[in-house]
Amino acid sequence: MVLFGPPGAGKGTQAQLLAEQLKVSHISSGDLFRQHLQQGTPLGLRASEFMNRGVLVPDEVTIDIVLDKVLSLNAEDGFILDGFPRNRNQAEVLEDALMRRARGLDKVVYIQVPEPELVKRLAGRYSCRQCQAPHSIPKESLGPEGSAPDLTCQRCGGELYQRPDDRPKAVQKRIQVYQDETLPVLSYYQDRGILAEVSGVDKIECVNHRVLEALRASEPAGC
Ligand code: AP5
Ligand code: MG
Repeated sequence: MVLFGPPGAGKGTQAQLLAEQLKVSHISSGDLFRQHLQQGTPLGLRASEFMNRGVLVPDEVTIDIVLDKVLSLNAEDGFILDGFPRNRNQAEVLEDALMRRARGLDKVVYIQVPEPELVKRLAGRYSCRQCQAPHSIPKESLGPEGSAPDLTCQRCGGELYQRPDDRPKAVQKRIQVYQDETLPVLSYYQDRGILAEVSGVDKIECVNHRVLEALRASEPAGC
C-alpha cells in the first residue's frame, strides 16, 4: 500500500503503527535519504541540498533508492510506501516495476489534514536520529531556542532533533510543492480504483482505525 498525504499529515506515524500491526515493511523515501545523510554518503549529501530547500529530490536519485528496497522484498511480503510516489513519473515507474513481478498496490490511502494543522504539527515535531520516529513536543517542554535537550525517543531511546526542513520557510515550500507536483498523483490512483480518503484530524489511534478500515475494504470477498 501507499500512504499518501501532505507534509505533517501523519504518514510516518501511521506507517510505523501499521507496519507493526500488519507485519509488513515500512519504506519511507525521506527516511532513506536521512539515513544516507547520517552515514555521509554522496547520495545523502546530494539529497539534503534539495530536502533542506523543501523541493523534491530528482527522480534519477529517488526512484532507484526506493525501488531497490521494494524489489529486495520477497514476492509475498507486504510493504507500506510512505512519501513515494510524489509525482506521476514515480507512480508510473512503480507500477511498471511491480507489474514485472506480477504484483500491484492494494490501496493508496490519502490522509487529509488542513494546512493550518500541518504547519502547527511540523513546528512541534522532533524526530529520532536513530529510528526516525516522529514525536510531538509541547512548547513548554523545550529548552532555550527550541532545543529538546533532555528528550529521548519513546521508541528506541535515541536522541531527538528538529529536521532542518521543518523550519517555517521550508515547510511553506514543501506544502506548495506538494500541491503543485504531488497532489495530481491522486487522480492516477483514482482512475485505478484503489484510492481511499481518510481524515487525519483526530487522535492517532482513530486515524489508525480509519486506515485499517480502508485497507480491509480492499480485501477480496470471502477472505
Ligand atoms: P518526507 O520525510 O517524506 O517528508 P514529508 O512527506 O514532507 O512528510 P513528513 O515526514 O514531514 O510528515 P508525515 O506525514 O510523515 O507526518 P508525521 O507522521 O511525521 O520527505 C522529506 C523530503 O525528502 C521531501 O521534502 C523531499 O525533498 C524528499 N523526498 C522524499 N520523498 C521523495 C520523493 N518520493 N521524491 C522526491 N523527493 C522526495 O507527523 C507529523 C507530526 O504530527 C509529528 O509530530 C506527529 O507526532 C504528529 N502527528 C501525527 N499524527 C497526528 C495526529 N493524528 N494528531 C496530532 N498530531 C499528529
Ligand atoms: Mg514522514
